[in-house]
Amino acid sequence: MWLSPWLPLTLLIAASSNASTLPLNCAPNNGTMTTPSFGTTDAVFTACAQITINSSPSAVYDVLLDFPDYPAWNTFVYSVDLPSNVSSAEDVYVGMPMKLHTSGLLLGINSTSDERITFLEPGAVPPFVAWRYDEGALVGVLMNAEHVTVLEDLGDGTTNCVSWETYYGAGALLTLTLMANLQTEFQNQVSDLKGRVEGLAT
Ligand SMILES: *[C@@H]1O[C@H](CO)[C@@H](O)[C@H](O)[C@H]1NC(C)=O
Ligand SMILES: *[C@@H]1O[C@H](CO)[C@@H](O)[C@H](O)[C@H]1NC(C)=O
Ligand SMILES: *[C@@H]1O[C@H](CO)[C@@H](O)[C@H](O)[C@H]1NC(C)=O
Repeated sequence: MWLSPWLPLTLLIAASSNASTLPLNCAPNNGTMTTPSFGTTDAVFTACAQITINSSPSAVYDVLLDFPDYPAWNTFVYSVDLPSNVSSAEDVYVGMPMKLHTSGLLLGINSTSDERITFLEPGAVPPFVAWRYDEGALVGVLMNAEHVTVLEDLGDGTTNCVSWETYYGAGALLTLTLMANLQTEFQNQVSDLKGRVEGLAT
């Protein structure tokens, strides 16, 4: 087991090189964007929204991961079901399963989506978090998706928040019909996030 002391270092390098290759802007013309788990291969489409928040990345990070508090500010993901031992942002861990309750994708219908945390990188440059769609192995063959949020420190007390989800595989074509609504809701979500973070600071 002489390799084991090196493992944390290897993981650290993997995470930081991931961070440095992440995009800092939405792609022009709704172009597809890479994700840390799936890259660009078989990408079908991306929903992306971007906003400047008058706050530090760490303040945005804390609000973003405080899933129990989502009902207070997030009009798209209006609630999140969590494991029983998770009650705050500090409890969230890589591999954590969660069920997002969303409204606004289909007229008059709320939907749910099972997701799993894939990256928690508050110390990376830029800091980022990600979670992936997690409906089990069968669905995974047909469709993958990962939602990434990058929080770039602009150095003047503000944060460039870029939030995107890329959908992969043939199954993603079904979701493509929701593209316009997804795009709108991603925009709503970063606007809500900005409102929440800036509201907490005053
Ligand atoms: C909650 O449970 C998960 C899975 O058993 C575990 O990995 C995690 O560390 C626990 N978190 C806390 C805050 O106890
Ligand atoms: C969808 O969720 C929203 C927010 O919780 C709620 O106000 C609305 O009544 C729900 N709609 C349906 C059809 O369940
Ligand atoms: C991007 O997608 C949105 C939603 O589908 C659409 O309204 C908009 O026109 C697209 N923009 C470009 C530049 O293709």
